[in-house]
Amino acid sequence: MLIDGHGRTVDYLRISLTERCNFRCQYCMPEKPFSWVPKENLLTFEELFVFVKVAIDGGVTKIRLTGGEPLLRENLDGFIKMIHDYKPDIDLAITTNAFMLDKVAQRLKDAGLKRLNISLDSLQKDVKAKIVGRDVLDGVLKGIDKALEVGLGVKINMVPLKGINDVEILDVMNYCRERNIKIRFIEYMENEHATDSLQGMHGREILTKVKEKHTIKALGREGASPSFNYLLDGEYEFGLIDPHKHDFCESCNRIRLTAEGNLIPCLYFDEAMSIAESVKAGDIEGAAAVLGQVLKDKPKENRWTEEELEGREISKRAFYETGG
Ligand code: GTP
Ligand code: 5AD
Ligand code: SF4
Repeated sequence: MLIDGHGRTVDYLRISLTERCNFRCQYCMPEKPFSWVPKENLLTFEELFVFVKVAIDGGVTKIRLTGGEPLLRENLDGFIKMIHDYKPDIDLAITTNAFMLDKVAQRLKDAGLKRLNISLDSLQKDVKAKIVGRDVLDGVLKGIDKALEVGLGVKINMVPLKGINDVEILDVMNYCRERNIKIRFIEYMENEHATDSLQGMHGREILTKVKEKHTIKALGREGASPSFNYLLDGEYEFGLIDPHKHDFCESCNRIRLTAEGNLIPCLYFDEAMSIAESVKAGDIEGAAAVLGQVLKDKPKENRWTEEELEGREISKRAFYETGG
């Protein structure tokens, strides 16, 4: 078992496969970064797999591939198959913007992928285009339909933003409810890379909007998930991810690996340690030692609370680098 310095069990590895993305979401990467990580610095799937094996052997039972946009990596189905063949019962998932999903969903499913979390912040063409910088809605909806058609599990993530998509909270939720997919509303997490003027909605404001038309009952957190679940009208379950509260940090079970091999203990902080040298040399003990150190140093909690955001620098971490 992997245990961190605060006694928490870590069994969830999130791997960002590339920081590149075909979208320019305002809360993540409104502009192309000054420079990308050079392609030659990206770990190959074979190198990533060295670490994946260390993590699985240590006790990781859930792996999520993120980005940037993970579907931009070639031969992604090959990597999924490598992980699946090593541990078929692993909870293997991808977080994607779904724009390129239509063509690859079946292949990913055949390779062993179980489920997908998809960002859908609006069902209006122009609003979606305003948030992501491109006219993409039709492609994204096609991707979602395809994923459902091939039998992949799907969840939707929506980041409500004041004056942009806040009026669509119920519409996007209804879209999900009709398809029997779970939606999680995510509080916007302030960071240096996002558009300056963005104003997120607090969890309680999101719930107030929902309560205008529906009854809701609090269900609680599902294990170590950052999502707090609610039952809508006695029949449909949705979630709220509220990092401005600290309670999900108490049971945090995850570490993150970037595409160039930096192991990140917490989404908020800038600290990281590299496993690149170890995995390039096939040095399993070296990689395990870095993992041990990162677990030991894992912070107790993030600093997105309202009190702490007041008059202080915001997170320097880029979501497109860590994969959210
Ligand atoms: P499930 O396995 O389906 O529960 O997925 P997930 O919620 O772990 O993954 P997803 O990639 O869909 O993440 C949803 C949102 O939760 C993203 O915006 C993440 O940034 C946020 N999130 C996940 N883990 C953490 C965390 O440790 N800290 C903070 N602050 N946010 C997190
Ligand atoms: N705040 C909240 N959520 C974010 N995401 C990306 N950037 C942010 C942010 N600044 C979400 C995306 C995606 C998930 C992985 O992270 O909507 O669904
Ligand atoms: Fe790309 Fe996801 Fe960031 Fe949007 S949130 S720019 S889709 S990585």
